[in-house]
Amino acid sequence: MKLAILSRAPRAYSTQRLRAAAVQRGHDVKVLNTLRFAIDLSGDEPDLQYRGRQLSDYDAIIPRIGASITYFGTAVVRQFEQMDVYTPNTANGISNARDKLRATQILSRHNIGMPATAFVRNRADVRPAIEQVGGAPVVIKLLEGTQGIGVILAPEVKTAEAIIETLQSTKQNVLIQRFVSESRGRDIRALVVGDRVVAAMRRRARGDEFRSNVHRGGTVERVELSPEYAQAAVRSAQIMGLRVAGVDMLEGDDGPLVMEVNSSPGLQGIEEATQLDVAGAIIDYIAGQVAFPEIDVRQRLSVSTGYGVAELLVHTNAELVGKTLGESGLWERDITVLTLHRGTAVIPNPRKGQLLESGDRLLCFGKLEEMRSMIPERRRRRAKVRKLPAEPIPSEE
Ligand SMILES: Nc1ncnc2c1ncn2[C@@H]1O[C@H](COP(=O)(O)OP(=O)(O)O)[C@@H](O)[C@H]1O
Ligand SMILES: [Mg+2]
Repeated sequence: MKLAILSRAPRAYSTQRLRAAAVQRGHDVKVLNTLRFAIDLSGDEPDLQYRGRQLSDYDAIIPRIGASITYFGTAVVRQFEQMDVYTPNTANGISNARDKLRATQILSRHNIGMPATAFVRNRADVRPAIEQVGGAPVVIKLLEGTQGIGVILAPEVKTAEAIIETLQSTKQNVLIQRFVSESRGRDIRALVVGDRVVAAMRRRARGDEFRSNVHRGGTVERVELSPEYAQAAVRSAQIMGLRVAGVDMLEGDDGPLVMEVNSSPGLQGIEEATQLDVAGAIIDYIAGQVAFPEIDVRQRLSVSTGYGVAELLVHTNAELVGKTLGESGLWERDITVLTLHRGTAVIPNPRKGQLLESGDRLLCFGKLEEMRSMIPERRRRRAKVRKLPAEPIPSEE
């Protein structure tokens, strides 16, 4: 395949390793400086120029977009997507992952364990938010920090309030997060490629530092992940739309707590700690995917009038529990079951003899009218009554 690595650091360890792994496998690979692209929207077809000249055809890209160029970098990646060039990480995935609040919002809809997190703007809401996540000591995070910079542990509520106020006064948005003390100074980095963890390490902070980032002097060691941790990592990456990701998890008393999903994970620390060929795994995965580009199934399948995809819940259709798919009557109603999801397991193309259990979720393609009655009701939020002080309604900003 012909592969482009988008990077501003051709000499960095990760770029070098990806390049070498591609060459070793006989691929044609170039490292292109992300900031030297020009997005061309003038013609009928989406196009790109590189260093002032028309870009040649590529089969795939590996975006390594640093935090400082997220906007331009994701615009370039999106342009490649428009040109049907395969990318393991989409522009949306990269920008969603980069914003810690947005990432937390997206993951929280999918039963992924995460440290309790709050986001507020008004001064009066800071103290209740700290209490809400469990009180002091509490972690305060800048929305777009990396390498541990912008992550602060505040020992007391008063200090936390002062820090938040200071940061907000300089127009910086911050998250308030429960301090997971049982994992103090320790976390897990899992390198996800496709639908598996290819390498994992535990990071330990230096001295009395609570941040375990390698850039903060943390040390690393190889770990074998339990299925619970591996699944949390893979699901988080997939939900974020990232096929190559570094997932950071705290080791909570009740299992993994996902803190963030990195879209351009560094390879040096993890390859040295594990002695595994992570770069090679990334290249192999991409080569395997190039032939099967990802498509937006819902969009593509809704074109035939009245047909579409929907997820049906078996327990809301009590008459389905205990029956086989063949007996379910779905085929007679022109509904095809694409996948069956049971807990964290997925059964693709389930057979007619497949027995249905309560709690199963069926991803189906069929007549929307037939499926409408079988779709679970919209979830209502549990009312959490909290008295708020009466306040005049401010005009919009
Ligand atoms: N809620 C928390 N409880 C305990 N430790 C935390 C918490 N959040 C972050 N940390 C520590 O701080 C480090 C950096 O936090 P993280 O959210 O990953 O920011 P960054 O993007 O800067 O790496 C983590 O690797 C972890 O060691
Ligand atoms: Mg981190």
